[in-house]
Amino acid sequence: MLILAIESSCDDTAAAVLRDNSVVLSNVISSQFDVHEKYGGIVPELASRCHIEAIWPVVNEALDTAGITLQDIDLIAATQGPGLVGSLLVGFTFAKAIALVNSIPCTGVDHMAGHLLAIMLEGNKPEFPYTALVVSGGNTSIFTVNSPINFSLQGRTRDDAAGEAFDKVAKLLDLGYPGGPVVSRLAEKGNPTAIDFPRAWLDKHSLDFSFSGLKTSVVNQVNRYRQKNEPVPTEDICASFQQAVVDVLIEKTVRAAKNSGHMRIVAGGGVAANSALRQQLDKRCQQEGLACFLPSPVFCTDNAAMIGLAGYHQYALGNTVSPDADAFSRSPLN
Ligand code: KG4
Repeated sequence: MLILAIESSCDDTAAAVLRDNSVVLSNVISSQFDVHEKYGGIVPELASRCHIEAIWPVVNEALDTAGITLQDIDLIAATQGPGLVGSLLVGFTFAKAIALVNSIPCTGVDHMAGHLLAIMLEGNKPEFPYTALVVSGGNTSIFTVNSPINFSLQGRTRDDAAGEAFDKVAKLLDLGYPGGPVVSRLAEKGNPTAIDFPRAWLDKHSLDFSFSGLKTSVVNQVNRYRQKNEPVPTEDICASFQQAVVDVLIEKTVRAAKNSGHMRIVAGGGVAANSALRQQLDKRCQQEGLACFLPSPVFCTDNAAMIGLAGYHQYALGNTVSPDADAFSRSPLN
């Protein structure tokens, strides 16, 4: 089965072609980085307009790279939600339209399911069940993944997502957008124990997260330097902030796996591309006797290949969408 997958939930226009549920024939991503960078964050109206301009070229490139045409496609899978509704509507409506015109079945995919299953695009796949951490600009959640269609939420952020905290710290330090990669780069030159930023453990057994207190603490710290006209130790702040995020993500994910009796931990989402998180999660898993599965960075950040994979399993269940199906802004999984 050849699947054309489309993803447009946020600021990347992406299309991929998959053979069945794991062979990626093409994976094209068009970033809107240049458009949003000067605003220090995503401007939803601009994101929708950019998706409209990019969607046909990106889909055509995905088909060309795979060496096929639309007539060869057996299934179209598109992100139905969650995300920015204006952005979602571009990709999802486009998918439904070309499916209708070409008499191809179309399935709507939950973006979260894509991140939870992205590891299955890799050669080294975990067996089910596993504990999965999804950590991105819009979500920070822990799930039990029982099968490709059965996910149960164990914990989620009560305020900011971890990626959002990276982006806000970067904005505060005038480092540009998106913040994660640049904060991570500067953190490599800083001391992670220089500043003891707070870790929000919440209730004793809670698997929920909170990053708003940490963000405020970074703001206060930076303001103290600025008020005294002292140089801001950007690298140490980045390293100490990143360590505070990583500590909580790892501790809660390992705790969730132990509570569920799982032997496998998987991570996904843009922040899962963070090298400190990857190294430290892998090390901690080794210490705990758990297997750690991390998708390559290109399958951590938003991509259409993971949507094709999740769409394959939705279609196998008989789930297709009609032309009047709507996009959704919040995930029923979360
Ligand atoms: O999954 P993603 O591409 O988009 C969604 O939010 O759905 O994740 C984007 C987020 C942004 O907040 C970005 O700053 C963060 O992932 N990110 C990182 C890194 N690369 C991307 N955060 C920390 N370290 C990174 N290396």
